[in-house]
Amino acid sequence: MSDTTINSDSPSWTDVACQHAQAVTNSKLPIIEPFRIKSVDPIQARTRPERIEFLEQCHGNLFLLPADAVLIDLLTDSGTGAMSSEQWAALMRGDESYAGAKSYQRFEQAVQDILGLPHVVPTHQGRAAESLLFKILVQAGDVVPNNTHFDTTRANVEAMGAIALDLPCDALADTRSNEPFKGNMDLNALEVVLADDRQHVPLVMMTLTNNAGGGQPASLDNLRGVRALCDAYAVPLYIDACRFAENAWLQHLRDPDVAGLSVADLVKHAFSLADGCTMSAKKDGLANIGGFLALRDAELAESARRVMVVTEGFPTYGGLAGRDLDAVAQGLHEVIDEDYLGYRISSIRYVCERLDARGIPVVRPYGGHAVFLDAARFLPHVQAAQYPGQALAIELYVEGGIRSCEIGSVMLAQVNSETGEEIPAAQELVRLAIPRRTYTQSHMDYVIEIIDRVWQRREQIGGVGIHSEPPVLRHFGARFHPLPQSNPVSA
Ligand code: F0G
Repeated sequence: MSDTTINSDSPSWTDVACQHAQAVTNSKLPIIEPFRIKSVDPIQARTRPERIEFLEQCHGNLFLLPADAVLIDLLTDSGTGAMSSEQWAALMRGDESYAGAKSYQRFEQAVQDILGLPHVVPTHQGRAAESLLFKILVQAGDVVPNNTHFDTTRANVEAMGAIALDLPCDALADTRSNEPFKGNMDLNALEVVLADDRQHVPLVMMTLTNNAGGGQPASLDNLRGVRALCDAYAVPLYIDACRFAENAWLQHLRDPDVAGLSVADLVKHAFSLADGCTMSAKKDGLANIGGFLALRDAELAESARRVMVVTEGFPTYGGLAGRDLDAVAQGLHEVIDEDYLGYRISSIRYVCERLDARGIPVVRPYGGHAVFLDAARFLPHVQAAQYPGQALAIELYVEGGIRSCEIGSVMLAQVNSETGEEIPAAQELVRLAIPRRTYTQSHMDYVIEIIDRVWQRREQIGGVGIHSEPPVLRHFGARFHPLPQSNPVSA
């Protein structure tokens, strides 16, 4: 052992660390996942001919592919995330009592603590909560305004014989603009609807984040504006809360007026403006299944419980096992962790920035849960009636086994009730939804390269036609056929 004496001139560890830190302050570290991996789930690459064979079998509908035909599954971020070791531990604490289980108490407490809504009705997933809410509030002929309904929300409104009315802000239409809060509602348009037809508007909804429009957040100011109009016309406001934590984190990043507030505080502020929410815990509940309806009004909660007991189960488990309730309770606490949210949003930005730098049309600003490609600009020679989003999603699968999801005219076109003609969706997007805590940065690098390969040969890609389709939520079951590239673009 060497014999060095420590005297008062010797530097401390802090002094040394400060010197080192000054030398490297500006170097940028790679993004790392804020977790390590304890259990692995192998994925298998198929050959290109095998993928084409699968494509034939599923008639070009990626929802109909067997999951083991897919290498990187970005179909959805719903229920596809990895649970933490604390969540797995929570499963073991699950109390499977039929009524009043401890798991329910923990679930209820988590929702009350994080969202501040007192009456909590568990459901098996988000759409069951939507169905309950609309069954107790909506009647045929009503109109439900929303910044943008997602597909199941729209289907549930329409199932009541009501109209699902999208009122996004103008900025949403331009996928190139960097407007920070494209998930905002158009307040003028909302006021017109309320002034014209208040008696047919049973509630207003805000979807956080706006999934169909690119995972874009709504600002706290906009939520306050919506609340003020709801107060003026005495209409309740509900939040579709699927991605509430990502919305709060994007507010924290993008709005200098609230940047000083924590995510937990921002969440509280947002929900303090609402009369209730529907939630799919498969997203920002970090669970594989689950959801809830949370309400401020005790009587309304009782009405919901009376309806749910017929189809969802007893009101303290709502179609879930006790262990699922515990996994969600734990997940709700984990999802507002700012290290986790910082990593998640940076990882999505990483992909978008690299695609953008290569000229590939991504929706800007970069959203909360997914990378959205603008298929209308990616394949400008493919008309909306030839479903450019579906054509592009198919090519990503053929090129690299990546499963994505069209969010364009296949999913969201409407039909003109007089002429029977299809009205194309406002945007033709392909969503690569990133499951939470599931894929690594090298998977993201692979995704970038595959998208780029498709981009290089975009001019050869033709559209698709629909061969057959189910009457509701057609994207889940439609069968497609390829159309020849009728208008080749010169290189
Ligand atoms: N609301 C939004 C904004 C959603 O994104 C979804 C589901 C739901 C409600 C319904 O929740 O699936 O639990 O019944 N979105 C998934 C997706 C399916 O892929 O975006 P659920």
